Amino acid sequence: MFGARGSLCTLGSRTKVLKTVSASKLLGLSTSAKMSLKFKNAKRIEGLDSNVWIEFTQLAADPTVVNLGQGLPDIAPPVYVKEALSKVAATDSLNQYTRGFGHPSLVKALSCLYEKFYQNQINPNQEILVTVGAYGSLFNAIQGLIDEGDEVILTVPSYDCYEPMVRMAGGTPVFVPLRSKPVDGKKWSSSEWTLDPQELASKFNSKTKAIILNTPHNPLGKVYTREELHVIADLCIQHDTLCISDEVYEWLVYPGKKHLKIATFPGMWERTITVGSAGKTFSVTGWKLGWSIGPKHLIKHLQTVQQNSIYTCPTPLQEALAQALWIDIKRMDAPECYFNSLPRELEVKRDRMVRLLESVGLRPIVPDGGYFIIADVSLLDADLSDMENSNEPYDYKFVKWMTKNKKLSAIPVSAFCNAELKTQFEKFVRFCFIKKDTTLDAAEEIIKTWSSQKS
Ligand SMILES: Cc1ncc(COP(=O)(O)O)c(C=O)c1O
Repeated sequence: MFGARGSLCTLGSRTKVLKTVSASKLLGLSTSAKMSLKFKNAKRIEGLDSNVWIEFTQLAADPTVVNLGQGLPDIAPPVYVKEALSKVAATDSLNQYTRGFGHPSLVKALSCLYEKFYQNQINPNQEILVTVGAYGSLFNAIQGLIDEGDEVILTVPSYDCYEPMVRMAGGTPVFVPLRSKPVDGKKWSSSEWTLDPQELASKFNSKTKAIILNTPHNPLGKVYTREELHVIADLCIQHDTLCISDEVYEWLVYPGKKHLKIATFPGMWERTITVGSAGKTFSVTGWKLGWSIGPKHLIKHLQTVQQNSIYTCPTPLQEALAQALWIDIKRMDAPECYFNSLPRELEVKRDRMVRLLESVGLRPIVPDGGYFIIADVSLLDADLSDMENSNEPYDYKFVKWMTKNKKLSAIPVSAFCNAELKTQFEKFVRFCFIKKDTTLDAAEEIIKTWSSQKS
């Protein structure tokens, strides 16, 4: 029989359902007639209800599935980061509200860290805003700066929340694809994916309010070069356009490439909001702390959104993050600084994933940054016949099929594309490689067994 709690809960909720059903029967109302027009969603969220993370994270929640889907590190975060949080939590005053725009010690640490890259002083109180993850920074920036009728340029693919956030603000996304040059015989690098400067220029006009840039890029792993950033910067200046630069993977760049901040290009500081993330910086995605850095005349609008929405972020997390940052700020050039050691650790995992995917006949796009790798999986010839009824893109069907039948999860790349360009990317899926070796071992076994069964 059921345990005592389980049976009580079940009985309780069933009784409620029965009561509701009989009440509406008594009134003679059908379910649809009962739905008040007042229950309808606000127009600003119309059509924005589906979300790749909700759908695919649920599928991967099965503990028998090896999860290379969501960007969720299963490696241990640095010990000093975890220790800082436990020490801070034991200090009474640090368990109370703090300054709404960012805990004083955190904004100070961030200003000291980024001054090294911007070559000018960053005012911790006026030019930095700490919020709930990079998501919060993007939301504040888009809500605070984008108006009805404004156009916002987005690359395709690009991180999936940009488009709905722009639409929620009443803006119009304008898409420009990253295209790959042909790469015969050699490795397919993320650097082959570029924006065509003329095509990009054609998207700018008097209604363009902003471009959202993401470097290193999710999902391609592309790290924009100085020349590419110059093209974007020149267009922004020429058309008096803002730039929201999502740089959450700023430390995760592999040898031969360098992360550059567009805000440091001439004429760009005054028109750029740069977004960072504690989750990505210290492999603590559950902390959900992010920050925006930019000139006072832009940050003040983001502050207005924040003070009228979430108001402030958790104090203990902010203080612990500040303490952890100081440890690494003081040893920026040392190999043990996490900003240097994590990319070294990830480079090995990236190369392992490349070899694995190549060993089963795939041609992965080798990322220059970040912790995702994408590959055209149509070559695996999966039998998706039991998914035929679905009119979803190929990659959605493939990942659902693979999760169910092979117990391996990934993320469909078409989720990062607008409706018109989905078909160009629907053969690609994204694998996350910030994973323990045992997780990668398990993925390797699945992929190799699958491939040997085919041959
Ligand atoms: C490009 C990009 N921007 C923003 C985010 C959101 O970061 P956070 O977890 O700090 O909100 C992610 C998360 O994966 C991301 O990949």
